[in-house]
Amino acid sequence: MNETVQHRPGRDAASDLRAFAAVALRRQGVVGAVAPSSPALARALTAVVPTTAAAVVVELGPGTGAISEAIRRRLAPGSRQVAVEIDPGMVTHLNRARPWLDVIQGDAARLGALLAARGIDRADAVVSTLPWSLFPEDRQEAVLGEIGRVLRPSGAFTTVTYLHAVPLARARRFRGRLRAAFDEVLTTGPVWRNVPPGLAYVCRRPVGHV
Ligand SMILES: C[S@@+](CC[C@H](N)C(=O)[O-])C[C@H]1O[C@@H](n2cnc3c(N)ncnc32)[C@H](O)[C@@H]1O
Repeated sequence: MNETVQHRPGRDAASDLRAFAAVALRRQGVVGAVAPSSPALARALTAVVPTTAAAVVVELGPGTGAISEAIRRRLAPGSRQVAVEIDPGMVTHLNRARPWLDVIQGDAARLGALLAARGIDRADAVVSTLPWSLFPEDRQEAVLGEIGRVLRPSGAFTTVTYLHAVPLARARRFRGRLRAAFDEVLTTGPVWRNVPPGLAYVCRRPVGHV
């Protein structure tokens, strides 16, 4: 068996942390987090990934792959998993550490075109850890519009916010934008076992007027 695909939790986690820190220090304006997501947050974000039938699942901002692993564990046979990552350093790390993952290097604002180039027109689930607070508001709208267009009517979109940011005006405006873009927006309970603690928004039925 190829050494790179064997399960080595300790070594994998250390290598993920090194890669995350290297990019985060250099590009905090793109990464927007101090550490990879925890398994608890990954579980909250990936509960929308169908386990019972083959599905197309798209991840936005995979970073070093903490969420990608959780998605992979849920997938039913015949499913397809694709991840869109803008940072070339993260893409290099993912290609080396998670060779099973189909990573597209690109901007989530071009999601439809990036998926079309892979022969994908619709997704059953979109899971994002994109740093929304770093995006100008027109860019937030552009990315949400792309997600709404690729998501099947029966699909679900999840994304994360951090607890300390919840009361901020900017975060409130982002929640308003989610509610304008989706018929249903639910909030999970707090996930304390993450640095920093966070929660997930679970969005269904894109309404198509963002
Ligand atoms: C907060 S980190 C999350 C990393 C990882 N998914 C996790 O949860 O540990 C955000 C990731 O989104 C990527 N990113 C930022 N802007 C992006 C964009 N416009 N399109 C795709 N990826 C983007 C960053 O490079 C970074 O890897």
